[in-house]
Amino acid sequence: MAGKSDKILVWDVPVRLFHWLLVLLMATSYFSGRAGGDWMQLHFWSGYAILTLLLFRIAWGFVGSTTARFSSFLKGPKAAFAHVAHLFRKEGPHDVGHNPVGGAMVLVLIFAVLAQVVTGLFSADTDTGMVNGPLALKVADKWVERATDFHSWWINALLILVAIHVAAVALYLVWKRHNLVGAMITGRKRVDHAIEPGAPAPRLSFASSRLAISLLLASAALVYFIVRAGG
Ligand code: HEM
Repeated sequence: MAGKSDKILVWDVPVRLFHWLLVLLMATSYFSGRAGGDWMQLHFWSGYAILTLLLFRIAWGFVGSTTARFSSFLKGPKAAFAHVAHLFRKEGPHDVGHNPVGGAMVLVLIFAVLAQVVTGLFSADTDTGMVNGPLALKVADKWVERATDFHSWWINALLILVAIHVAAVALYLVWKRHNLVGAMITGRKRVDHAIEPGAPAPRLSFASSRLAISLLLASAALVYFIVRAGG
């Protein structure tokens, strides 16, 4: 029988690195974008790095480790409602990876950040004409204007989503006493938080680091070609 201190590896290294690099790069993008001027160069590079990470994570969601796969944590509205009901009780829930609500939020966050980065590629500083996203000169002005507007206000929606995300993690810590942040750092969760008492241990498979590195390089190459397409 599992003791309280027993832990199980649930998050692989690629998911953990993806997450904390994304947090770091999002902060870099935010502050460099606000600073403007010479900081825009950093803003662009940080955006390309985020796009690389997102493309990698989407691919990893199909071929990566069990808990990284979309199919393992996108469970639909019924499971999400059942999970919300659980939140009112002190015990449970038991989730090896993302819970059904958190899983849906993961998808929302990934695509919300993707929308921010993709519109950045087409954005331009229309006042000075000096700062252009790499693809801004490839499309009609009205699309550049739309992309630029979206890129400027969507960041606020993104900040709200991140605040909800962090609040949910804090709620889990305070109310459920589940340390999800620790798990995202070490990869390990307490067995009694991950698996229902008496239930068999789940069979998790962890994809190879060679596959992760290949996908990361392919994602970086794709971003390189997208940026180069701007000339
Ligand atoms: C820019 C800000 C952030 C973004 C865009 C973001 C995005 C994400 C994404 C996409 C995931 C899913 C990871 C995956 O499956 O690959 C995730 C999970 C997670 N994030 Fe964040 N995150 C942000 C900030 C934070 C911060 C500041 C914390 C710590 C307080 C945090 C704690 C977590 C935890 C604990 C999980 C795992 C949740 C679970 O166990 O289901 N995140 N985040």
